[in-house]
Amino acid sequence: MKKEIHVAGDPKGTAEQFIDFLKDFCAGKERVTIALSGGSTPKLLFDLLAAAPKTLDWSKLHFFWGDERCVPPDHEESNYKMTFDHLLSHIDMPAENIHRVRGEADPVTEADRSGKELLAFCTVVNDLPSIDLNILGMGDDGHTASIFPHQMELLAAEQLCAVATHPTSDQKRVTLTGPVINNSHTVAFLVTGEKKAQKIRSILGEEADASDYPASHVSPRAELRWFLDQGAYALVER
Ligand code: 6PG
Repeated sequence: MKKEIHVAGDPKGTAEQFIDFLKDFCAGKERVTIALSGGSTPKLLFDLLAAAPKTLDWSKLHFFWGDERCVPPDHEESNYKMTFDHLLSHIDMPAENIHRVRGEADPVTEADRSGKELLAFCTVVNDLPSIDLNILGMGDDGHTASIFPHQMELLAAEQLCAVATHPTSDQKRVTLTGPVINNSHTVAFLVTGEKKAQKIRSILGEEADASDYPASHVSPRAELRWFLDQGAYALVER
């Protein structure tokens, strides 16, 4: 597996570096499956893509989500709503290319349905869906998607998508499980800000505590790329 670290001076630079990578990744492909991360980091990336909507041929891309909060799609905490507000409402992507996780549905039922949809649309490798490009964030606690340190068992779950629980809010989430994340062809982490620096140092430095953090267990089939700003990279041993 190829590993590459990209460090930009600030979050805008990180988003711009990722967009350059994304354009190359999608070039010449008739169909690209992409899993989007939620939270706040992608907002800047989405705003930049929305400002230049012809950057990509959206008809060739299929959007999935790495995780979704179990709330309605118009709820302030919905990853779909964040993506719609910052990107989808500004680009011309066919509705059938948007594979929304139905946060309003029963979590267990939706986890099963989402897994089946991934299997129906993605290339299948090792009997699992293989997402072409899985864009992930990382929380201050080292979680990724909605696999949190208190639920490390989701890294090896048999389901394709599972119900997770946020450690402090108890909010239910539907998340990709570890085997599906690691069956992705390429994973690109987008992580910015000094609050993430300690975990980034631990993970990139393969320190003793790294294995406590779910993000350290991400190991895709072909490429693992980290798109960081100086803030997140600040503590990495040069
Ligand atoms: C979510 C995300 C989650 C996110 C990290 C980082 O639903 O919250 O998918 O995994 O990527 O929590 O969040 P920030 O970008 O807000 O720091």
